[in-house]
Amino acid sequence: MTPTPAGPEDAPRLAALHARSFERPWSAEDLAGMLDGEGALAFAAEAGFILLRSVGPEAEILTLAVAPELRRQGLGRALLDAGLSAARQHGAEAVFLEVAADNAPAAALYAASGFTAVGVRRGYYLRAGGSAVDAVTLRLRLPSPAA
Ligand SMILES: CC(C)(COP(=O)(O)OP(=O)(O)OC[C@H]1O[C@@H](n2cnc3c(N)ncnc32)[C@H](O)[C@@H]1OP(=O)(O)O)[C@@H](O)C(=O)NCCC(=O)NCCS
Repeated sequence: MTPTPAGPEDAPRLAALHARSFERPWSAEDLAGMLDGEGALAFAAEAGFILLRSVGPEAEILTLAVAPELRRQGLGRALLDAGLSAARQHGAEAVFLEVAADNAPAAALYAASGFTAVGVRRGYYLRAGGSAVDAVTLRLRLPSPAA
């Protein structure tokens, strides 16, 4: 269950994992493009993955997903830790992400890792039923790699 680096060649299985965690799945083609993009950092295990983009002093968590039947066993945290560590090594001084305001599990995970809310985008996510949900922007400041 230890996360290992992932690349564009992993896109099909990561897309399958993504589709099990989000209402609006990303295609393997889209994921391959992101994994091949500037500053892409990704880690995966059998049951989950994280994808970040780290450019200059800022990194962004683009997605994080763990298979529903294997949640609450520490994989989400392990993926997040791998991604944060890689972003720090890559020179990022802060990591950002957006999380749906009603996503309690993710909010708890990020809060436990030190992220704090720095903004809200009203009605950013459109649910399948048609309702709109706010996105909360979270930020974590990273210590320098030398620290
Ligand atoms: C968010 C997600 C990745 C967490 O993965 P996970 O493997 O279950 O997380 P972990 O087992 O490592 O949990 C780490 C901590 O997060 C918090 N947490 C995770 N799930 C939680 C839940 N359902 N309720 C409350 N806290 C939760 C807890 O603090 C937990 O620590 P603990 O188990 O010691 O209490 C997973 O729920 C998921 O894939 N959700 C759907 C996709 C998603 O929302 N991704 C994030 C988008 S920004």
